[in-house]
Amino acid sequence: MATSEGRLPEQRALAQRFPAAVAPGLPPTLAAMSKPPSSPQRVPIALDERSYDILIGQNLLSDEASWSGLPASADALIVTNTTVGPLYAAQLSAMLARHHRRVLQVQLPDGEAHKDWVTLNLIFDALLGAGCDRKTVLYALGGGVVGDMAGFAAACYMRGVPFVQVPTTLLAQVDSSVGGKTAINHPLGKNMIGAFYQPARVICDLSLLRTLPARELSAGLAEVIKYGPIADAAFLDWIEAHVDELLAQEGDALAHAVRRSCEIKAWVVGQDERESGLRAILNFGHTFGHAIESGLGYGQWLHGEAVGCGMVLAAALSQRCGLVEDAFVRRLTRLIERAGLPVRAPAMPEARWLELMRVDKKAEAGEIRFVLIDGMGRAVMRGAPDEWVLEVIAAHTARA
Ligand SMILES: NC(=O)c1ccc[n+]([C@@H]2O[C@H](COP(=O)([O-])OP(=O)(O)OC[C@H]3O[C@@H](n4cnc5c(N)ncnc54)[C@H](O)[C@@H]3O)[C@@H](O)[C@H]2O)c1
Ligand SMILES: [Zn+2]
Repeated sequence: MATSEGRLPEQRALAQRFPAAVAPGLPPTLAAMSKPPSSPQRVPIALDERSYDILIGQNLLSDEASWSGLPASADALIVTNTTVGPLYAAQLSAMLARHHRRVLQVQLPDGEAHKDWVTLNLIFDALLGAGCDRKTVLYALGGGVVGDMAGFAAACYMRGVPFVQVPTTLLAQVDSSVGGKTAINHPLGKNMIGAFYQPARVICDLSLLRTLPARELSAGLAEVIKYGPIADAAFLDWIEAHVDELLAQEGDALAHAVRRSCEIKAWVVGQDERESGLRAILNFGHTFGHAIESGLGYGQWLHGEAVGCGMVLAAALSQRCGLVEDAFVRRLTRLIERAGLPVRAPAMPEARWLELMRVDKKAEAGEIRFVLIDGMGRAVMRGAPDEWVLEVIAAHTARA
């Protein structure tokens, strides 16, 4: 149960504090903007022997240097889906043919509904059917769904083969392709079957986003925005100043947004690869967001849309807990709205909200744990009285 006494100072003292963000070790944010970024930019991910690079730039599918130095193997398998494959697999295949004797391809059915055992098996069918050995490199060409499935297949095939992420959605470029979480869904829970498995490289070709539907771009922006309040106040200022350029996919702005998001995610993951603590701050807006997604039925709102609205609710709850000013809530709400994301929650019964949030992975012994903002650029994990949570939801629900 959430505590119901509402003793603010005590609660603040009890709040589990994470190290102040814009944290030591996190590279400065705006230095990169003083001169036009050269393409591609490189974000190193330091995880000892599992270290790898994220490359970010335009037209990387045809940039020879971005593909050199990867694990050598006779065979490569491009894992993609029926939407992305027809757009980009031929170009990727032509590049990979310079490095591998055989470049195979499997096109999975598109959509979260197919992120399951049956679809995963199509990858193993392709590998085993073609007699691929334990050195075969998998290339995940697609959004987060393809990346999560190809990564999990790579972790399992012959107990582990190398894989490369070639994310084609903004969400995958700034979030899902970084950090090494791979998974498929089970009918009883999303992402419940998976493994931690790091890619050999992540290649973010920004020009691939040009075919992305506008709604998917906005959904990805939600995850970009999230990095500001939790870790880097200056990045939030920067996003506010450049949100229109981001929506227009202006090259330098996009490159900076992807780069800074990856740096912040890498910094968090570098300290907590297996999510025992700090990594949970990446779920800002997600406790409310997951309730919206599962309450409405998956597929109604995109994940990023639910997270956008969830961040408004989490910011308002932070304000209700006395951690931030109302001006911050209004500011974040305005930005989320400008990014093309919903800021009013869907109508659901109070009991349903609480029930949905209690089954969230972050709930501990029935207490809902929220990622709240405790001053700009700093996140805390804590509970809150149910009355406050419901008050905040009511104040931000769309009227029928
Ligand atoms: N592993 C992690 O740490 C992590 C983090 C966040 C999310 N995820 C997972 O990521 C998934 C969501 O990823 P997503 O938002 O990328 O969704 P997605 O992979 O379903 O892609 C969204 C849609 O865009 C299409 N698409 C992709 N690239 C395109 C392009 N360049 N042009 C045109 N269409 C394109 C896809 O075919 C799909 O229809 C979820 O399954 C989620 O669980 C994982
Ligand atoms: Zn998310």
